[in-house]
Amino acid sequence: MVIGKNILTVEQFDKSDIERIISLSETLENNLKSKGESNLLVGKIMASLFFEPSTRTRFSFEAAMQRLGGKIITATGLTSVSIGKGESLADTIRTVERFCDVIVMRHPEIDSSKNASALVKIPFFNAGDGAGEHPTQAFVDFYTIKKAQQNVEGKKIALIGDLKYGRTVRSLIELLIIYGGAELYLVSPPELELPDNYYEMMNHNNVKFVKTNNLNEAIAECDVLYMTRIQKERFDDKDQYERLKGSYILNRQVMLNAKPDVSIMHPLPRIDEIDTELDSDPRAIYFDQVENALYVRMAFLLVVFGKDGALDENY
Ligand code: NCD
Repeated sequence: MVIGKNILTVEQFDKSDIERIISLSETLENNLKSKGESNLLVGKIMASLFFEPSTRTRFSFEAAMQRLGGKIITATGLTSVSIGKGESLADTIRTVERFCDVIVMRHPEIDSSKNASALVKIPFFNAGDGAGEHPTQAFVDFYTIKKAQQNVEGKKIALIGDLKYGRTVRSLIELLIIYGGAELYLVSPPELELPDNYYEMMNHNNVKFVKTNNLNEAIAECDVLYMTRIQKERFDDKDQYERLKGSYILNRQVMLNAKPDVSIMHPLPRIDEIDTELDSDPRAIYFDQVENALYVRMAFLLVVFGKDGALDENY
């Protein structure tokens, strides 16, 4: 499938696209480590607009652009731009387009990136649209699983925590459904279950899944444990958040029943869902997962500029 200039939703990809991005990420990781930085995006500027908090996504996108020879202009927080004076997001995006070659945006509203991308002619990345999607993170997580487990097919992958509001976990689930081959364990409190349309998607694509609120069931069976933060900022009812926070906690005790080669993952930030006593466990790979974001976002930047084919002779 033609990936196009905008990276907005996991739905735009097919299995061959996934394989292409993962293969390119592997090549870029090897090249960066063996040859150093590239100049493939010299002369290009990325506008990095983060209107919700970010550490990993923002810095990995900005580092990826600079490792490819590009430059960045950046704004964090809605009041750091004239939205704080009442300007519309549409006028903000139309203004920023005049100073850059690609826009990366995180915004609290679902579909904000889809709507904003329609206003500009340059490539546009959805870096998280509220409780919507986080498509590039899904590829980071897929790449991490493949590196740690050698493949995705035949693996049992537990997705744990806030499956209702968590954009990373829902984007990853959709990517795994598109790719196929993995068995999914969906672990959440009843109040934070996966929306029904994902079950329809899994059934339509013959993806095997287990739905449970019992973490121990997944611990004993799974090859990957993907933990997620209960998304406090999405709860209207703060009392409900207080009841649900800390629903699942991984610690040494819980991990006693886990497979010896299980991979413990988390998109981060973590609150208390993974005890820091596990950070020294070699199966805890969430900081390797952080680094993988650099390579995957380098891959996406080359793709949207049509430079991934130029890799051989130039990098
Ligand atoms: C996630 C996000 O922002 O959606 N973090 C990330 O992108 N690395 C997960 C979260 O904030 O809980």
